[in-house]
Amino acid sequence: MVQKSAHVTIDGHPDTIDLPIYSGTEGQDVIDVGGLTKHGFFTYDPGFVSTAACDSTITYIDGDKGILLHRGYPIEQLAEHSDYLELCYLLIHGELPSAEQKNDYVDIIKHHTMVHEQLRYFFNGFRRAAHPMAIMCGVVGALSAFYHDSLDIEDENHRLITMNRLIAKMPTLAAMSYKHSIGQPFMYPRNDLSYAGNFLYMMFGSPCEDYIDSPVLTRAMDKIFLLHADHEQNASTSTVRLAGSTGANPYACIAAGISALWGPAHGGANEAVLNQLTEIGSEKNIDKYIKRAKDKNDPFRLMGFGHRVYKNYDPRAKVMQETCYEVFDELGVEADPLLKIAQRLEQIALEDEYFVEKKLYPNVDFYSGIILKAMGFPVDMFTVIFATGRTPGWISHWNEMISGPYKIGRPRQLYKGPVKRDYPTR
Ligand code: ACO
Repeated sequence: MVQKSAHVTIDGHPDTIDLPIYSGTEGQDVIDVGGLTKHGFFTYDPGFVSTAACDSTITYIDGDKGILLHRGYPIEQLAEHSDYLELCYLLIHGELPSAEQKNDYVDIIKHHTMVHEQLRYFFNGFRRAAHPMAIMCGVVGALSAFYHDSLDIEDENHRLITMNRLIAKMPTLAAMSYKHSIGQPFMYPRNDLSYAGNFLYMMFGSPCEDYIDSPVLTRAMDKIFLLHADHEQNASTSTVRLAGSTGANPYACIAAGISALWGPAHGGANEAVLNQLTEIGSEKNIDKYIKRAKDKNDPFRLMGFGHRVYKNYDPRAKVMQETCYEVFDELGVEADPLLKIAQRLEQIALEDEYFVEKKLYPNVDFYSGIILKAMGFPVDMFTVIFATGRTPGWISHWNEMISGPYKIGRPRQLYKGPVKRDYPTR
């Protein structure tokens, strides 16, 4: 319901333009600028810093206060009391499952973890040295070639089975992309293990010996997935929505989301954090890198710091930091030099005037890379793990959009090219 309105006067324009203002259940009010076009204007907002592109009931972030809610539940409480598959259910269905619904859901997901045998042949086409994100872009998109029976996006049941398939198969494809790179046989999923435990098994198990499940590492893996599950209209989720707004099939939309996630300003940051910590190499070099980060004429940025939305400590980073210490205790690697550099960097950034003034706090990627490295994941798998964890977020936003009225996403532009001119005749 419209309660307030904005009144825009424009130099040289005869009328005052009235624009409705809408309020959500939380957060800032929004001005509906759709009415500007009939007066001959568009808004201009590169990077969408002031633009809400949709309504959503899934996730709320207050970046100034460091709050992240999924369907109203704070991320810290979900990390402490819930688990990843329960959060997937919550994101998709809107409410926490009952005990029976949860059991059924876990059972359904476990029974969709295998991928079609023919999909295995795709992997042979990739070079061993291929980045696993490159493989993921290809094989997730390729899933659409296997499920012609359930690609009617207008059919709620088709959408449901597709969402279940994607959540179930992403860890399998992620682990296959790793096994391919090291030349080991693919491990078939094991339905007796938990979602996170099965992923670790498919990654690190081998047919030659028994796999020993570590409850601490499995819980840490589950938390890493849970902390990445959704983050409202970030670049990759917006990409999924934009692709979905054309009516494209959901596997293709998720492949588009994976591509958008790959960049170092987004999901690629955890990989970039670790590469940067390795490049820094020693605590004695930190000052040099801090100086570079603060130099306006140097494009260098401290990876793992800053966030488009959080201008406070990222609540996920706090949970990730605790998980990091649990993993290090379990593995007995508390003296890792990279962790020492990371801790020192964090301390400096939290005190340094430049970082304080610009509100550049450590983000979730700052600690996730260090944990994943300690657990034995190669650096180029970090973003793949982010993509796996983010799948329920992508797919629940896609489903939310498709379930309601939506328009094809089609931004406008401020054209600055040549004015009309005639082709030269020679
Ligand atoms: N190191 C040094 N300076 C920084 C950093 C950084 N990591 N991040 C931002 N700044 C500075 C910018 O130079 C800019 O300074 P200026 O106002 O003097 O020009 C100011 O802070 C604002 O930066 P913007 O780029 O305008 O902020 P924006 O909100 O567009 O960018 C981003 C956010 C992309 C995350 C940025 O902070 C960054 O590049 N961080 C490093 C990469 C990273 O960790 N990405 C992970 C994001 S979290 C995720 O995807 C899960």
